Amino acid sequence: MCGIFGVTGLPDPLTLVADGLRALEYRGYDSAGIVTVDPERGELWRCRAAERGRSIEKLETKMHDAPVHRGATLGHTRWATHGAPNEENAHPHVDCSGRIGLVHNGIIENHRELSAELRSAGHAFSSATDTETFAHLVESKVRAGACLREAVAACLGSVTGDFAVALVDAAEPHTIVAARRTSPLIFGRTPIGAIVSSDIAAALPTTRDLYQLGDDQVVELSPDGVVVIDASGAPAEARRLAVSWSVEAAQKSGYPDFMSKEIAEQPVALAQTLLGRFSSAGVPELEELALSRRELAGFNRVVLVACGSSYHACMSGRDAIERLAKVPAEVDIASEFRYREAVLGADTLVIAVSQSGETIDTLHALREARRRGAKAIAVSNVVDSVMAREADGVIYTHAGPEIGVASTKCHLAQHALLAVFALHLAHSRGELSGESLAAAAAELTALPGLVEAALTGSQDHAAVARRYVGVNDFYFLGRRSGFTVAAEGALKLKELAYVRAEAYPAGEMKHGPISLIEPGAVVVVIALRDGLWEKVMGNVEEMRARGATVVAVCEEGDQETEAAADAVLKVPGAGALVRPIVGVVPLQRFAYEIARARGNDVDRPRNLAKVVTVE
Ligand code: G6P
Repeated sequence: MCGIFGVTGLPDPLTLVADGLRALEYRGYDSAGIVTVDPERGELWRCRAAERGRSIEKLETKMHDAPVHRGATLGHTRWATHGAPNEENAHPHVDCSGRIGLVHNGIIENHRELSAELRSAGHAFSSATDTETFAHLVESKVRAGACLREAVAACLGSVTGDFAVALVDAAEPHTIVAARRTSPLIFGRTPIGAIVSSDIAAALPTTRDLYQLGDDQVVELSPDGVVVIDASGAPAEARRLAVSWSVEAAQKSGYPDFMSKEIAEQPVALAQTLLGRFSSAGVPELEELALSRRELAGFNRVVLVACGSSYHACMSGRDAIERLAKVPAEVDIASEFRYREAVLGADTLVIAVSQSGETIDTLHALREARRRGAKAIAVSNVVDSVMAREADGVIYTHAGPEIGVASTKCHLAQHALLAVFALHLAHSRGELSGESLAAAAAELTALPGLVEAALTGSQDHAAVARRYVGVNDFYFLGRRSGFTVAAEGALKLKELAYVRAEAYPAGEMKHGPISLIEPGAVVVVIALRDGLWEKVMGNVEEMRARGATVVAVCEEGDQETEAAADAVLKVPGAGALVRPIVGVVPLQRFAYEIARARGNDVDRPRNLAKVVTVE
């Protein structure tokens, strides 16, 4: 969601900030803005734009009118929550005097009370945002004699909610002050200046010397150095980030968009996810997880929580855990779990799965689980993410940065890592023989090659997809692991192509949705050769009898399925553990092609954000 990028002490700060904002675009935004301090005049210069998809371009045009002298500079991409996505509500916001500029990510939950107090004290507001409250709050402290750093620290106790803020003050032209609670914010140092950023990918082109600001810590950045304090004003220390990503990993590198790059990267991403996870005898090893095998063996129940594509990876994780480790496992959507009043105890292990490690619903679910006495671990792609830090243990997917809003390589990596976890749990409980473990390890080790074959196989999945560009109604059907594939395929199509795509367990169609099937409907059926294939084929017949067109995801060489369907998307045959992972691949391409043919931006689909940091 909202992105923050700021620089001080570095040459050409406006261009650097605009580049930073472009790198943050993927988080999702509907307006953008920049503020810089003019050190000569001791005033702020600000420009904002609210034109979907073109706001940063607009800012770059407006930047021609910026003052020649530029001190500390902040930029922001906004994904509207409080107040319409227009220029008045775009950040940066300023205080009454126009001396303090502020950008913000998250929500100030008590903004109504605070703004009522501030208004009655004479502050004039010029936007409908919760953000502006913070600017006026800081203004009141600065007016009382505090420097910017002290003022921000003094405000933290008054605001509730999760947020990251960065501020400049015309009276301190080369200083940026930033603070955070839960929402992401890192800062970086260079020999001549410093930066602040919402994420690592945007910061990397400037510096690798990066630090994670702790909750309720405040950092003051200037060319003279960095000072970190806590909310009481006492000196504090931020944590240095171990950065393994390269700058190139977060660039398109010749691909038309990030999504096609990330789809193509899946074999390599999976190889990274699986690297070092098994001993030569096939024994699963998850050393990063801070839980011993003994502790793991003590859990009697596993609950997986996540949102979006990560939720679908959890569905197959649940199945693998029950099948292999014989531990009751369930899966819940994080935003539902949080309010479920789940009965949890010390014998329950909660696994929060999140590419970003930031999704607010999943984060709150993790917190709720711990509050209710369960142990909670995170599966995260972003190293040192908020969830990684708050959980009782973490395992990383190591899939490299994912920029396309719709998850692809990280989704596959989550599936694979949860399969490794299921094996690790099974081994810890003594549920699997050495032979079975070795066979499962071999199956997973072959996965990158299978995904490569699914991507480069004889069949052109894109050509099949192009036949359905004009269709507005899709159903995705499957059973058990086929249903997890169907759910992810339907989500991809909805996210990217903006068409109705309903995923249903195939056997449940008869209890309602079949009444919607009429000539013209396109039904995508997951017909992989698991134990339920025959039953799925029965469902295919039911669909065709009602005039639907059937597109089947099937295994190479499966002539029976090919004969029964109107079209097929072929994938290599695979074992039970990896079958749902391989099955997703053609459906990513299916959604991608239809979306592109319909003229949609696949990297930044409308209304969506890569990282959802508000409830
Ligand atoms: C957003 C993204 C999805 C993603 C979901 C969960 O909705 O658009 O692609 O699956 O968030 O994100 P997470 O980072 O928690 O995996």
